[in-house]
Amino acid sequence: AAAVQACGPDVDNSHGNREYANVNWDELGFGLTPTDYMYIMKCSKEENFSPGTLTPLGNMEMSPSSGILNYAQGILEGMKAYRTEDGRILLFRPELNALRMKMGAERLCMPSPTMEQFLDAVKQTVNANKRWVPPPGKGSLYIRPLLIGSGSMLNLGTANEHTFITYVSPVGNFHKGVVNLVVGENVYRATPGGTGGIKAICNYASIYKTISEAKAKGFTDVLFLDVVTGKNIEEASTSNIFIVKGNTISTPATDGTILPGITRKSIIEIARVLGYEVEERAIPVEELFDAEEVFCTGTAVVVNFVSSITYQSKRVEYKTGVETVSRKLYNTLTGIQTGRIEDKMEWTFTL
Ligand code: COI
Repeated sequence: AAAVQACGPDVDNSHGNREYANVNWDELGFGLTPTDYMYIMKCSKEENFSPGTLTPLGNMEMSPSSGILNYAQGILEGMKAYRTEDGRILLFRPELNALRMKMGAERLCMPSPTMEQFLDAVKQTVNANKRWVPPPGKGSLYIRPLLIGSGSMLNLGTANEHTFITYVSPVGNFHKGVVNLVVGENVYRATPGGTGGIKAICNYASIYKTISEAKAKGFTDVLFLDVVTGKNIEEASTSNIFIVKGNTISTPATDGTILPGITRKSIIEIARVLGYEVEERAIPVEELFDAEEVFCTGTAVVVNFVSSITYQSKRVEYKTGVETVSRKLYNTLTGIQTGRIEDKMEWTFTL
């Protein structure tokens, strides 16, 4: 049962004649702004989820012995809705999030919503929270689908009830200012055979300590190396990594320890259409010293231009700015996502 904690009905009509929530859109960062509604759908014992419902955003009751609270049986997803100049609301490749959730659910022995159920839940949630989609150019509505083991248990094993939840929050830029990465030494994000290749909830808290230590030293984020050889770059805490040299763009191959990012996939496809050579392969950390540009991709970060990377106290700086390959890729991706560029790939869905 959701305890109701709905937000105020304040409406700001200052952006054209559309109804907007009362938010200072110029101050948005990547923080949580509670909105009006969330969507909840449950699967008890059987394989299939029962039809779900929209409900006012609020707290949820959970058994202290639920699968998620005790053994982190859960998957998160991340996607965004954008408002176009002509007032439409666009979702970006939502079917890929549904497929990724299904893949993660299989790995964690959970049932997952069907594609239709996932897409319907996301559309209903965004529609119900329309006034929280920022004006064009001011950010996006971050959509967070969750799939958790909500049934109670003590021994290891899949929960006897699973809950799918979707909530949203308007967001702006993930990182403020320039991005300076540090290569993690003796700290790893993922292991072969582990959960690095899915959006398991347990993947994130396990790197908090590493990230906060890097931030205390003035870095923006940590770039993790592979645990087997300790020689190849893998990804940053919430984003995939790309290096650019001449006409070639390289990114680590997704071999199980790297998250198959939807922004990563989209950037690879855009780069190929724009005529770049794209390589998915193992990238030795030394190649960072040879790269001209480096950028990170993810739903939250979009495309982040990396200014510098520090490895074993050696710092290398990269080209950023308007004349870069990274900027060209960013402009194309965000142009499609926000409806400024014609969506020839048919990636966007208009609500
Ligand atoms: C996303 O990019 O959607 C993420 O899930 C990042 C989040 C952990 C901050």
